[in-house]
Amino acid sequence: MKIAVSGKGGVGKTTATALLAYGYVARGYQVLAVDADPSPCLGQALGFPEDLLQGLRPIAEMEDLIAERTGAQPGTMGGYFRLNPRVEDIPERFSALHRGVRLLQLGAVEKGGSGCICPESVLLRSLVTHILLRRTDVVLLDMYAGVEHLGRATADAVDAMIIVVEPTARSLGTAGQIRALAEDLHLPHLYLVGSKVASAEDREFIEQHSPGLEVLGHLSADEGVRDADRAGVAVYDQSPRLVAETATIASALERRLGRENPSVG
Ligand SMILES: Nc1ncnc2c1ncn2[C@@H]1O[C@H](COP(=O)(O)OP(=O)(O)O)[C@@H](O)[C@H]1O
Ligand SMILES: [Mg+2]
Repeated sequence: MKIAVSGKGGVGKTTATALLAYGYVARGYQVLAVDADPSPCLGQALGFPEDLLQGLRPIAEMEDLIAERTGAQPGTMGGYFRLNPRVEDIPERFSALHRGVRLLQLGAVEKGGSGCICPESVLLRSLVTHILLRRTDVVLLDMYAGVEHLGRATADAVDAMIIVVEPTARSLGTAGQIRALAEDLHLPHLYLVGSKVASAEDREFIEQHSPGLEVLGHLSADEGVRDADRAGVAVYDQSPRLVAETATIASALERRLGRENPSVG
Protein backbone atom coordinates (compact mmCIF):
# COMPACT_ATOMS: atom_id res chain seq x y z
CA MET A 1 0.00 0.00 0.00
CA LYS A 2 1.46 3.32 -1.05
CA ILE A 3 -0.29 6.00 0.94
CA ALA A 4 0.22 9.76 0.64
CA VAL A 5 -0.86 11.91 3.60
CA SER A 6 -1.80 15.51 2.86
CA GLY A 7 -3.85 18.36 4.31
CA LYS A 8 -3.60 21.94 5.48
CA GLY A 9 -0.50 22.93 7.48
CA GLY A 10 -0.75 22.09 11.17
CA VAL A 11 -3.80 19.82 11.00
CA GLY A 12 -1.90 16.78 12.22
CA LYS A 13 -0.48 15.09 9.09
CA THR A 14 2.83 14.20 10.70
CA THR A 15 1.10 12.92 13.84
CA ALA A 16 -1.30 10.81 11.77
CA THR A 17 1.56 9.47 9.60
CA ALA A 18 3.59 8.46 12.67
CA LEU A 19 0.56 6.74 14.22
CA LEU A 20 -0.23 4.86 11.01
CA ALA A 21 3.42 3.80 10.62
CA TYR A 22 3.40 1.93 13.96
CA GLY A 23 -0.21 0.94 13.38
CA TYR A 24 0.84 -0.96 10.24
CA VAL A 25 3.92 -2.43 11.97
CA ALA A 26 1.54 -3.76 14.62
CA ARG A 27 -0.53 -5.31 11.83
CA GLY A 28 2.50 -7.19 10.54
CA TYR A 29 3.68 -4.96 7.70
CA GLN A 30 7.11 -3.58 6.90
CA VAL A 31 6.82 0.18 6.75
CA LEU A 32 8.80 2.85 4.94
CA ALA A 33 7.97 6.35 6.18
CA VAL A 34 9.02 9.18 3.89
CA ASP A 35 9.29 12.68 5.34
CA ALA A 36 8.69 15.11 2.48
CA ASP A 37 8.54 18.20 4.70
CA PRO A 38 11.34 20.72 4.00
CA SER A 39 11.85 20.91 7.77
CA PRO A 40 11.63 17.25 8.72
CA CYS A 41 9.88 16.26 11.96
CA LEU A 42 8.37 12.85 11.27
CA GLY A 43 11.37 11.26 13.03
CA GLN A 44 10.46 13.04 16.27
CA ALA A 45 6.82 11.99 16.02
CA LEU A 46 8.04 8.42 15.53
CA GLY A 47 10.23 8.75 18.62
CA PHE A 48 13.43 7.91 16.78
CA PRO A 49 16.40 8.16 19.16
CA GLU A 50 18.38 11.38 18.84
CA ASP A 51 21.57 9.67 17.67
CA LEU A 52 19.72 7.98 14.81
CA LEU A 53 18.20 11.31 13.74
CA GLN A 54 21.58 13.04 13.99
CA GLY A 55 22.95 10.54 11.50
CA LEU A 56 20.21 11.23 8.96
CA ARG A 57 20.62 13.84 6.28
CA PRO A 58 17.82 14.89 3.94
CA ILE A 59 18.55 13.62 0.44
CA ALA A 60 18.09 17.10 -1.10
CA GLU A 61 21.03 18.33 0.98
CA MET A 62 23.43 15.61 -0.15
CA GLU A 63 25.20 17.61 -2.83
CA ASP A 64 27.89 15.03 -3.52
CA LEU A 65 25.31 12.29 -3.96
CA ILE A 66 23.20 14.47 -6.27
CA ALA A 67 26.25 15.39 -8.35
CA GLU A 68 27.46 11.78 -8.49
CA ARG A 69 24.08 10.41 -9.59
CA THR A 70 22.94 13.13 -11.98
CA GLY A 71 26.33 14.26 -13.30
CA ALA A 72 25.64 17.89 -12.38
CA GLN A 73 26.02 20.13 -9.34
CA PRO A 74 22.82 20.93 -7.42
CA GLY A 75 21.59 24.46 -8.00
CA THR A 76 22.52 24.43 -11.66
CA MET A 77 19.94 24.69 -14.40
CA GLY A 78 20.20 24.07 -18.06
CA GLY A 79 23.39 22.20 -18.92
CA TYR A 80 23.37 18.46 -19.25
CA PHE A 81 22.54 15.92 -16.59
CA ARG A 82 21.00 12.48 -16.33
CA LEU A 83 17.20 12.46 -16.16
CA ASN A 84 17.11 8.87 -14.90
CA PRO A 85 19.72 8.75 -12.12
CA ARG A 86 20.40 5.51 -10.27
CA VAL A 87 18.44 5.54 -7.00
CA GLU A 88 17.74 1.90 -5.98
CA ASP A 89 20.36 1.87 -3.22
CA ILE A 90 19.34 5.20 -1.67
CA PRO A 91 16.38 4.11 0.54
CA GLU A 92 18.49 1.51 2.39
CA ARG A 93 21.73 3.49 2.56
CA PHE A 94 20.44 6.87 3.66
CA SER A 95 17.58 5.96 5.96
CA ALA A 96 17.26 4.96 9.61
CA LEU A 97 15.42 1.93 10.97
CA HIS A 98 13.70 1.88 14.36
CA ARG A 99 11.03 -0.51 15.70
CA GLY A 100 10.18 -1.77 12.24
CA VAL A 101 9.82 1.64 10.60
CA ARG A 102 12.37 2.79 8.04
CA LEU A 103 12.55 6.58 7.85
CA LEU A 104 13.78 8.56 4.87
CA GLN A 105 14.00 12.36 4.80
CA LEU A 106 13.70 14.04 1.42
CA GLY A 107 14.45 17.64 2.41
CA ALA A 108 13.72 20.86 0.56
CA VAL A 109 14.01 21.44 -3.14
CA GLU A 110 14.09 25.06 -4.20
CA LYS A 111 10.97 25.50 -6.26
CA GLY A 112 11.47 27.02 -9.66
CA GLY A 113 7.89 26.49 -10.72
CA SER A 114 6.25 23.15 -11.35
CA GLY A 115 8.28 22.60 -14.52
CA CYS A 116 11.56 23.06 -12.65
CA ILE A 117 14.20 20.73 -13.94
CA CYS A 118 17.28 20.84 -11.78
CA PRO A 119 19.53 17.99 -10.64
CA GLU A 120 18.14 17.81 -7.09
CA SER A 121 14.49 17.76 -8.17
CA VAL A 122 15.20 15.09 -10.78
CA LEU A 123 16.95 12.92 -8.20
CA LEU A 124 14.14 13.33 -5.64
CA ARG A 125 11.43 12.62 -8.16
CA SER A 126 13.23 9.51 -9.43
CA LEU A 127 13.71 8.40 -5.83
CA VAL A 128 10.07 8.86 -4.81
CA THR A 129 8.83 7.09 -7.92
CA HIS A 130 11.23 4.21 -7.27
CA ILE A 131 10.12 3.97 -3.63
CA LEU A 132 6.48 3.89 -4.62
CA LEU A 133 7.04 1.18 -7.21
CA ARG A 134 9.26 -1.11 -5.18
CA ARG A 135 7.89 -3.89 -3.02
CA THR A 136 7.86 -2.63 0.53
CA ASP A 137 4.57 -3.57 2.19
CA VAL A 138 3.52 -0.10 3.22
CA VAL A 139 4.92 3.26 2.16
CA LEU A 140 3.64 6.37 3.96
CA LEU A 141 4.46 9.71 2.39
CA ASP A 142 4.15 12.63 4.82
CA MET A 143 3.62 15.60 2.53
CA TYR A 144 3.82 19.15 3.77
CA ALA A 145 0.70 20.52 2.11
CA GLY A 146 -1.22 19.71 -1.04
CA VAL A 147 -0.31 17.63 -4.02
CA GLU A 148 1.25 20.30 -6.27
CA HIS A 149 4.70 18.83 -5.90
CA LEU A 150 3.52 15.32 -6.60
CA GLY A 151 4.49 14.68 -10.22
CA ARG A 152 2.43 12.61 -12.62
CA ALA A 153 4.65 9.55 -12.36
CA THR A 154 4.59 9.74 -8.58
CA ALA A 155 0.84 10.20 -8.44
CA ASP A 156 0.39 7.17 -10.69
CA ALA A 157 2.23 5.02 -8.18
CA VAL A 158 0.22 6.13 -5.14
CA ASP A 159 -2.61 3.75 -4.13
CA ALA A 160 -4.46 6.09 -1.83
CA MET A 161 -4.31 9.58 -0.43
CA ILE A 162 -5.47 10.51 3.03
CA ILE A 163 -6.43 14.15 3.52
CA VAL A 164 -6.18 15.00 7.22
CA VAL A 165 -8.70 17.56 8.45
CA GLU A 166 -9.44 19.32 11.72
CA PRO A 167 -13.04 20.12 12.61
CA THR A 168 -12.65 23.56 11.04
CA ALA A 169 -14.15 25.08 7.90
CA ARG A 170 -10.69 26.12 6.72
CA SER A 171 -9.10 22.72 6.83
CA LEU A 172 -12.15 21.23 5.08
CA GLY A 173 -11.90 23.99 2.47
CA THR A 174 -8.28 23.05 1.87
CA ALA A 175 -9.37 19.41 1.61
CA GLY A 176 -11.72 20.42 -1.22
CA GLN A 177 -8.86 22.13 -3.07
CA ILE A 178 -6.59 19.13 -2.57
CA ARG A 179 -9.36 16.89 -3.84
CA ALA A 180 -9.59 18.91 -7.08
CA LEU A 181 -5.82 18.80 -7.61
CA ALA A 182 -5.68 15.11 -6.80
CA GLU A 183 -8.39 14.38 -9.33
CA ASP A 184 -6.43 16.29 -11.98
CA LEU A 185 -3.57 13.89 -11.25
CA HIS A 186 -6.01 10.93 -11.39
CA LEU A 187 -5.23 9.85 -7.85
CA PRO A 188 -7.60 6.92 -7.35
CA HIS A 189 -8.53 6.53 -3.68
CA LEU A 190 -9.08 9.71 -1.68
CA TYR A 191 -10.22 9.65 1.94
CA LEU A 192 -10.54 12.01 4.86
CA VAL A 193 -9.22 11.37 8.35
CA GLY A 194 -10.42 13.61 11.16
CA SER A 195 -7.79 15.01 13.52
CA LYS A 196 -7.97 16.76 16.93
CA VAL A 197 -11.58 15.65 17.26
CA ALA A 198 -12.87 16.53 20.74
CA SER A 199 -16.61 15.84 20.61
CA ALA A 200 -19.49 14.26 18.73
CA GLU A 201 -20.14 17.72 17.22
CA ASP A 202 -16.60 17.76 15.86
CA ARG A 203 -17.14 14.40 14.16
CA GLU A 204 -20.43 15.50 12.70
CA PHE A 205 -18.95 18.77 11.46
CA ILE A 206 -16.28 16.88 9.53
CA GLU A 207 -18.71 14.33 8.14
CA GLN A 208 -21.22 16.97 7.08
CA HIS A 209 -18.65 19.26 5.49
CA SER A 210 -16.55 16.60 3.78
CA PRO A 211 -15.96 17.57 0.14
CA GLY A 212 -17.72 14.40 -0.99
CA LEU A 213 -15.07 12.07 0.43
CA GLU A 214 -15.50 9.11 2.74
CA VAL A 215 -14.21 9.66 6.28
CA LEU A 216 -12.07 6.64 7.21
CA GLY A 217 -11.99 7.51 10.90
CA HIS A 218 -11.14 10.14 13.47
CA LEU A 219 -8.15 10.80 15.73
CA SER A 220 -9.09 12.41 19.02
CA ALA A 221 -7.62 15.62 20.34
CA ASP A 222 -5.31 14.05 22.89
CA GLU A 223 -2.84 15.45 25.40
CA GLY A 224 -0.60 12.49 24.66
CA VAL A 225 0.47 14.18 21.42
CA ARG A 226 2.00 17.10 23.28
CA ASP A 227 3.35 14.90 26.06
CA ALA A 228 5.11 12.72 23.48
CA ASP A 229 6.61 15.78 21.82
CA ARG A 230 7.96 17.08 25.12
CA ALA A 231 9.28 13.72 26.25
CA GLY A 232 10.85 12.97 22.87
CA VAL A 233 8.99 9.68 22.53
CA ALA A 234 6.68 8.19 19.92
CA VAL A 235 3.16 9.58 19.98
CA TYR A 236 2.04 5.97 19.47
CA ASP A 237 3.32 5.15 22.99
CA GLN A 238 1.47 7.97 24.74
CA SER A 239 -2.17 7.24 24.07
CA PRO A 240 -4.03 3.90 23.98
CA ARG A 241 -7.02 5.81 22.61
CA LEU A 242 -5.06 7.07 19.59
CA VAL A 243 -3.63 3.58 19.07
CA ALA A 244 -7.15 2.14 18.93
CA GLU A 245 -8.37 4.88 16.57
CA THR A 246 -5.33 4.34 14.36
CA ALA A 247 -6.08 0.60 14.14
CA THR A 248 -9.60 1.40 12.95
CA ILE A 249 -8.29 3.71 10.23
CA ALA A 250 -5.48 1.33 9.20
CA SER A 251 -7.84 -1.61 8.82
CA ALA A 252 -10.47 0.45 6.99
CA LEU A 253 -7.84 1.49 4.46
CA GLU A 254 -6.61 -2.10 4.13
CA ARG A 255 -10.12 -3.20 3.25
CA ARG A 256 -10.72 -0.34 0.80
CA LEU A 257 -7.52 -1.27 -1.01
CA GLY A 258 -8.40 -4.95 -0.95
CA ARG A 259 -5.31 -6.01 1.04
CA GLU A 260 -4.97 -9.12 3.11
CA ASN A 261 -3.58 -8.41 6.54
CA PRO A 262 -0.21 -10.29 6.69
CA SER A 263 -0.62 -11.09 10.39
CA VAL A 264 -3.98 -12.77 9.83
CA GLY A 265 -4.34 -16.29 8.46
N1 LIG B 1 -4.62 14.27 17.77
C1 LIG B 1 -4.03 15.40 18.24
N2 LIG B 1 -4.35 15.85 19.47
C2 LIG B 1 -3.77 16.97 19.97
N3 LIG B 1 -2.86 17.70 19.31
C3 LIG B 1 -2.50 17.29 18.08
C4 LIG B 1 -3.06 16.13 17.47
N4 LIG B 1 -2.50 15.98 16.24
C5 LIG B 1 -1.65 16.99 16.08
N5 LIG B 1 -1.63 17.79 17.19
C6 LIG B 1 -0.81 19.01 17.37
O1 LIG B 1 -0.99 19.86 16.27
C7 LIG B 1 0.24 20.42 15.86
C8 LIG B 1 0.50 20.08 14.40
O2 LIG B 1 0.64 18.67 14.27
P1 LIG B 1 1.45 18.02 13.07
O3 LIG B 1 1.20 16.57 13.12
O4 LIG B 1 2.88 18.47 13.10
O5 LIG B 1 0.69 18.68 11.83
P2 LIG B 1 1.14 18.83 10.30
O6 LIG B 1 2.13 17.76 10.00
O7 LIG B 1 -0.14 18.69 9.55
O8 LIG B 1 1.72 20.20 10.15
C9 LIG B 1 1.30 19.90 16.79
O9 LIG B 1 1.54 20.86 17.78
C10 LIG B 1 0.67 18.67 17.40
O10 LIG B 1 1.13 18.44 18.70
MG1 LIG C 1 4.02 17.84 9.18
